[in-house]
Amino acid sequence: MTALPILIDTDPGVDDAAALLLALASPELDLRAVTAVAGNVPLDAVLANTGKILALAGRPDIPFHAGCAGPLVRDQVFGRHSGLGAFGPDLLPVTPVSPGPVHAVNAIARAALASADQEKRITICALGPLTNLALALVLDPLIAKGIERIVIMGGALAALGNRVPWADFNMLADPHAAATVFGSGVPIDLVPLDTTFQALVTDDHLRRLDEEAGAAGRCFADLFRASDRSDPARFGRPGGPVHDAVVVAWLLWPDLFSSASAAIGVEYAGRTKGYLFADFHGISDLPINARVLRAVEEEAFLDRLFERLSRLDTNASQVSRT
Ligand code: RIB
Ligand code: CA
Repeated sequence: MTALPILIDTDPGVDDAAALLLALASPELDLRAVTAVAGNVPLDAVLANTGKILALAGRPDIPFHAGCAGPLVRDQVFGRHSGLGAFGPDLLPVTPVSPGPVHAVNAIARAALASADQEKRITICALGPLTNLALALVLDPLIAKGIERIVIMGGALAALGNRVPWADFNMLADPHAAATVFGSGVPIDLVPLDTTFQALVTDDHLRRLDEEAGAAGRCFADLFRASDRSDPARFGRPGGPVHDAVVVAWLLWPDLFSSASAAIGVEYAGRTKGYLFADFHGISDLPINARVLRAVEEEAFLDRLFERLSRLDTNASQVSRT
């Protein structure tokens, strides 16, 4: 079976790191390009972090493109864990890969146009604010035709938001871009906090990563610990989410998930901009425009994630532990 061509648009970000490493460890996926966007942290730190992850995985060959430094319209906000900034040498002791000369928006456009008449069009994993994707989609209507689907990490449908009560960070950071993407007509799979909060990485899992998942797994465990993602008050149990890795896991192991179609609307003005509302029952006049992941098998997902990270050891073993 030929590998699925994908492009990852990302704002590393600890959970973005897990998603990128998972994709790079999975032969079922053909990672054609990585495009970076400001989000969790400012663009310069996003570029450094993305470049370090590609270096950690031993993949300087992956086309890597710098994208938008801020949102389309609203004021810029950063992630809750933005204090981590650029991953330091204590966390990721590798020299980052540098982005190429082509801007991310143009790289997305080129990837979509090149795959428009291919047997397998490109699938885009959107792990950050949707600024790059929105601009690419308005560049040329043909671009939408070259995209198989966009799998978006974002939204807080029935779950409380993580960055504000009404929204997850990605949708909050650029609600106008989100409205553009959800209104584009491109098939969308949505991975909301409602689902990513179901899979929490605990201290026991981190110990397993330290012991079993090689250099890449250990680096991820260090990153996860440094960002302190646990929130027992919110989740009612130990552990913290690894949002973006769920997007890649959905492509790899759809059997671990349940999903439902919905009409998704985006609030992009006023106090609750960034809020995504979902009509699963056809009670609004909104057209169905997304498949929404509703549940994930937590331990099976985490077991498979960790096993895949351990496969990267052959490339990442040169990482010296400081
Ligand atoms: O709300 C969670 C999302 O925002 C994740 O993609 C995280 O990395 C941040 O980008
Ligand atoms: Ca992200």
